[in-house]
Amino acid sequence: MNDLRIDSDRLWASIEDLARIGAVHWPDTGLTGVNRLALTQADADGRARVREWFEDAGLQVRVDRIGNLWARRAGTAPELPPVVAGSHLDSVPTGGAFDGALGVLAGLEVVRTLNAAGRLTRRSFEVGVFTDEEGARFGTDMLGSAVACGRLPLDEALGLADRDGVTVAQALAAFDLAGLHPVPAPAPHCFLELHVEQGPILHRAGDELGVVTGVQGISWTELTVTGRSAHAGTTPMALRVDANLAVARLQVALHEAVATGAFGPDQRVTIGRIAPVPNRINVIAGQCICTVDLRNPDEAGLAAAEQALDALITTLSDELGVTIEARRTARTRPIAFDPAVQAAFTAIAERHGWRHRHMVSGAGHDAQEFAAVCPAGMVFVPGEHDGISHNPLEYSTPQACGRGAQALLEAVVTLSE
Ligand code: GLV
Ligand code: MN
Ligand code: MN
Repeated sequence: MNDLRIDSDRLWASIEDLARIGAVHWPDTGLTGVNRLALTQADADGRARVREWFEDAGLQVRVDRIGNLWARRAGTAPELPPVVAGSHLDSVPTGGAFDGALGVLAGLEVVRTLNAAGRLTRRSFEVGVFTDEEGARFGTDMLGSAVACGRLPLDEALGLADRDGVTVAQALAAFDLAGLHPVPAPAPHCFLELHVEQGPILHRAGDELGVVTGVQGISWTELTVTGRSAHAGTTPMALRVDANLAVARLQVALHEAVATGAFGPDQRVTIGRIAPVPNRINVIAGQCICTVDLRNPDEAGLAAAEQALDALITTLSDELGVTIEARRTARTRPIAFDPAVQAAFTAIAERHGWRHRHMVSGAGHDAQEFAAVCPAGMVFVPGEHDGISHNPLEYSTPQACGRGAQALLEAVVTLSE
């Protein structure tokens, strides 16, 4: 093991190369970020580039029916279930270069390092690229890995539509991204994912690595609030049925409820999308669609927050005369990662003398889907600027990324035995 060292310059060059695909310059901030929204041209281009790199590294690439890529390096016992490491290449529209991409490219770097050393593992090793992890287009997150691991039926996933009515099936077909390999996929021996933390904990503590103990539960709801559009100047205040007012009151009420601590100390709430119709200065909104993202590492707390949302919907409908239709678009329970995988990452950090901590993930990840079918685990590296993510400012240093990839390499080798 001691002779195996990943090449962090090579990894960094791949991160920079990939970040040019879907690069977006934001003139207001002067920052350049990444927009590889799922199943768009940029996402397809990113996958094509990474697929070329997989093939150049001698990997056998197969594609399954939801468009996940599986790139295989055969081991000396190819009949055994493989060790799989992976993540995603899609991003939110205002993303950075690391969320997802780091995990995929670190898997590739593991392969390149094993190849350069002429080292064969006993079990085969596969790098996975999972379709639409972000959920920012079709409304449900971890789409590809949820289908691969059997939580989400393929037909249901293929039928999900974006805001313009384009379905996952149509978007896959538009870029010829779906393959023939069946889903759910056979369970791997274990699943590993390196990811940038996307939060401030490691950065503030000066820690070099996070051993992830689990992922908090996520509940996503889309609300369609219907009022009555009318003239802003002529309609007396008492006669209005204002959809935007209902959303404003809902947002304030949810924040206040969370601040009471009623759902435990770690409840989070985000209304990330507000889309009023007709969205004009002098027209009272007749409709407003909004999304509610609730997260909590405690299932009971999350369920209580969902109930509070339901109660608020009833109260606001009664008080304001609006109708509110709620559609749950995603729901995962809190999950715990495998203790043996956590122990493997902890041992690696200790061997190198890296400052590390155990921590729960605030973001959703493909590894949480695999946790249902095989031992799974994750390791985090710190992000700069307080770990900001889903923002073009997202940044992790070459050293931090290299450390994470080295941890992934060593875990792959250990768990391949
Ligand atoms: C995925 O990035 C999520 O946690 O929303
Ligand atoms: Mn991610
Ligand atoms: Mn993300």
